[in-house]
Amino acid sequence: MAKWSDIDPAEMHPESLMMTYGFRPEWSEGAASPPIFQTSTFVFPSAAVGARCFEIAYGLSEPLPDEHSDLIYSRLNNPGMEMAEDRLALWDRAETAALFSSGMAAITTTLWAHLRPGDVVAASSPIYGGTHHFIETVLPQYGIEFIRFDHHDSADDISARITATGRRLGMVYAETPANPTNDLIDLQRCAAVAARFSTPERKVPLAVDNTFLGPVFQHPLEHGADIVVYSATKYLGGHGDLIAGAALGSHAMIDPIRAMRTFTGNMTNPFTAWLLMRSLTTLRLRMEQQAENARRVADFLRDHPKVKSVNYLGHLAAGDPRHDLYKRQCLGAGGMISFEITGGRADAYRFLDALRLFKLAVSLGSVDSLAEHPCSMTHCEAGVEANAAKGITESLIRLSIGVEHPDDLVADVGQALARA
Ligand SMILES: Cc1ncc(COP(=O)(O)O)c(C=O)c1O
Repeated sequence: MAKWSDIDPAEMHPESLMMTYGFRPEWSEGAASPPIFQTSTFVFPSAAVGARCFEIAYGLSEPLPDEHSDLIYSRLNNPGMEMAEDRLALWDRAETAALFSSGMAAITTTLWAHLRPGDVVAASSPIYGGTHHFIETVLPQYGIEFIRFDHHDSADDISARITATGRRLGMVYAETPANPTNDLIDLQRCAAVAARFSTPERKVPLAVDNTFLGPVFQHPLEHGADIVVYSATKYLGGHGDLIAGAALGSHAMIDPIRAMRTFTGNMTNPFTAWLLMRSLTTLRLRMEQQAENARRVADFLRDHPKVKSVNYLGHLAAGDPRHDLYKRQCLGAGGMISFEITGGRADAYRFLDALRLFKLAVSLGSVDSLAEHPCSMTHCEAGVEANAAKGITESLIRLSIGVEHPDDLVADVGQALARA
C-alpha cells in the first residue's frame, strides 16, 4: 500500500502525527478523520497487478525500490490496520508494527514465528497468567521447553540454566515491569544473554512485553530488545472498549511474525484498528494523567495503617539498586500499583467488595480505575504457594489507575480500607 502521508515522521513528535500520519483526506472524500474500511477484499486494477501483489505478499519476490503492493484481502492487510500500525510504530521508533486480535495473539504468534522444536525459551517471572500458561503448558507439547528467571538472576545464572537444558536458546522473553508486582527486569542483562547464545546463522531475539508502561514510559528497543509486544487492550486502546495486541521491531524480526499472522488469521479487524487510531491521539494525555493519579493513590496507601507494602515504581528510593535500573530503563512510574493489605484473602476481598468508584474487574490501562485479586484471578493458574514465592500473596491487590479525579480515587480507597 502507498504511504499516504508526505510528512517525514522525523520532523515531529508522535503526539503531533497521530491525527494525520499515513492518511490523505482527498483519497476518502475529504474526510478529516480516516473512515473505517469495512471490507473483506479489494479490487485489483488488472490481473497482472493482482498476481504481482500475491508474489510480494507470499514472499515469492521482493518489492522493487519504491514499489508498493496494492491491497489484497483484509486478513493480509487493510488500510485502517496499516495506518494504525504505522502510527503505533512511531511511538517506539520501530521500523514496523503488526496488529493482532488480542495481546495473547501478538505474544503467541511472536513465539510461534521465532521458536522451533528443540528450543528452550528463557522467560522472566512473574509474568501475565496467559503468557505463563502458553509458555509452560502449551509450548512443551510442541517440543519447546522453558527456563524461568527473575530480577535477582545475573546473566551468568540465566546462562547456566539455559546451558543445563542442553537445548538451543530460541528466545529471551521478558515482561517488565512484571504484572502484578512491578518487578523490573534488566533488559541490558537479557540482551547480553541473548547475544551469548546467538550465532552468525541465528540471532536469538529478546522480546519484551511493554504493556505496563507503554511507549510513553519505556522504550525497550532502545535497551537491547528486538521485539516489543503489547496487549493493546490496555493503555494503547485505553477506553476499555476493545481487545487487540501488537508486535513491533525491525522488518527482520516482525516480517516472520506478520507472515505467521497471515496463516493463523489472528489480525485485528477494521473497526478495532480504527478505535485504536482514535485512542492513540490521546495516549500521552491519558497515560500522564493516570501516572499522576497513581502517585496520589500510592502515597496514600504507603501511609495507611492497614497496608503492609506497596509495589509502585515511583517509590523506589535512591540507593536501592532497582532505583538505578528504573532511572536507566523507564521514563516514568506509570499507572499500575499493587499492595498488600494487612490480613489475608478475606481482608483483600472485603476491600475489593467495598470499592465504589473503582470497578472490581481484571484488565488494566483503561480510563476507568480497576481493582482485582491476582492470586485468585489473573494469576490463579500458578497456585497459591508458587504465587506467594513470587510475591503474589493472598493479601495482594492490583490497582489500575484511571483518569478520574485523584481526590475521589483516594477517598474510595480510604473508605474501602476502613471497611476491610
Ligand atoms: C502484561 C500483559 N500482557 C499480555 C496480556 C494479554 O493481553 P490480551 O488480554 O489483550 O490478550 C495481558 C492481559 O491482561 C497483560 O496484562
